[in-house]
Amino acid sequence: MNAIEIKGLRKSYGGFLALRGIDLEVEDGEIFALLGPNGAGKTTLIRILAEGLGYDSGEIRIFGRKLSKKTARFIGYVPQESISYELLTVEENLKFYADLYDAPKERIYELIERFALPRKKRAKELSGGFRRRLNLAISLLYDPKILILDEPSTGLDVPSRRELWELILEFRREGKTILLATHYMEEAEALADRIAVMDEGKIIALGTADELKALVGEGSVIMIEGFLRGLEKLKGKFRLVEKDGTARIHVKNSKESLPGIVETLVKSGSEIRLMKIEEPTLEDVFLKLTGRGLE
Ligand SMILES: Nc1ncnc2c1ncn2[C@@H]1O[C@H](COP(=O)(O)OP(=O)(O)O)[C@@H](O)[C@H]1O
Ligand SMILES: [Mg+2]
Repeated sequence: MNAIEIKGLRKSYGGFLALRGIDLEVEDGEIFALLGPNGAGKTTLIRILAEGLGYDSGEIRIFGRKLSKKTARFIGYVPQESISYELLTVEENLKFYADLYDAPKERIYELIERFALPRKKRAKELSGGFRRRLNLAISLLYDPKILILDEPSTGLDVPSRRELWELILEFRREGKTILLATHYMEEAEALADRIAVMDEGKIIALGTADELKALVGEGSVIMIEGFLRGLEKLKGKFRLVEKDGTARIHVKNSKESLPGIVETLVKSGSEIRLMKIEEPTLEDVFLKLTGRGLE
């Protein structure tokens, strides 16, 4: 069963149409990313799911049930802004929200331990990374099956971002379904099983990162340097450009083609010194679809 099902979702602010008919299915247990530039409608979509923001028309189901107060418990939500109280300690923040959500108190101490949170520190003393983790802990108090994250790593330094990504991958291993919004293609690519590319209130492409890249016909280039023999055997199969002991081989999918290419060259007596794969990026995909960059 799908964790989230959205059909024909439209939402306007005054006269402005922010979501222009969204169709989307998020499978149980996957990490699904909404990738798009600022203003694409990602936060609007998330707020409808996680905050009960009203919408004009469309159908939304959470594990088969209509989105409602009753389905709210399935969803944990980490908004882009911090939701912790600056003057309260980590523990006090968690207690406050545990009361609000009627969550078991033991959960507070499990989460403090799991996220290595400094129990007695006030929220305002926390670094960006720890503040994000506190928000994550708050969203997990009632152990939701679905976790929704809005721009989870925006504003974090590289190490905190990596740590957060590790946590998100861990949640999936535990069987949670994760929907995240991001304008960083690296984030979508590092985490998501499937990605919906959004622009101006619409989904303009949807699939795995590999599928999206294939969709716009951007292949990879495998660059091989060395004493190369057997290139003529590859020439029938691939577009191959050879210059100064370097071969550039254009392939649709590098993962599929690489083993065969290496085998052919090595069996023909080549000595490979260096190999590099130039992959197209999701930025290329977005550029091709919209004529603009992601940021
Ligand atoms: N509360 C609001 N009132 C009016 N317009 C809004 C409001 N929230 C968002 N918008 C507009 O809706 C569009 C989508 O915004 P948003 O959902 O925040 O996109 P994203 O999260 O992808 O950056 C933008 O053009 C934004 O200006
Ligand atoms: Mg947003």
